[in-house]
Amino acid sequence: MKKRWLFMALLSTATLLTASDAGAKLSEEKCTSCHMTSSSSAKLKDGKMHAPPMWGVMKKVKNHFKTKEEGIAFITDYTMYPAEEKMIFPEATKEYFGLMPSMRETVTNEEMKLIAEYLYR
Ligand code: HEC
Repeated sequence: MKKRWLFMALLSTATLLTASDAGAKLSEEKCTSCHMTSSSSAKLKDGKMHAPPMWGVMKKVKNHFKTKEEGIAFITDYTMYPAEEKMIFPEATKEYFGLMPSMRETVTNEEMKLIAEYLYR
């Protein structure tokens, strides 16, 4: 029951905001604990990075894929089903940070669409 309420609350806030605002808010909530952004860098409480910064991730994605569609498809798939063989980052990235854990438990497919669109903007 509690979960359902939370879901409804999230849904209604998502519809009040524009898609891009919602994507910004979601990526802030779901990604920046590990992938710092210029606005989240102050939150690195332990002073350590837990993943490449989000601008670095997006630079890689944009260099690697020719189209926005491919880039978005990659971000979406990787976030839900990370795997070593899918990585664009070199092996050293995984050795340093470890492989990204799947976000399937914390991000819905709908949220993922908004996040990927926002990140790719
Ligand atoms: C618990 C920490 C953590 C969270 C939260 C997290 N990531 Fe990651 N992510 C990582 C790490 C570590 C890497 C580098 C290793 C790798 O690529 O798996 C990474 C790499 C990536 C990559 C590049 C994959 C590659 O190697 O080419 C993408 C894209 C990505 N993350 C997207 C996201 C998105 C979108 C979110 C939020 C929905 C997110 N991540 C949340 C830890 C995290």
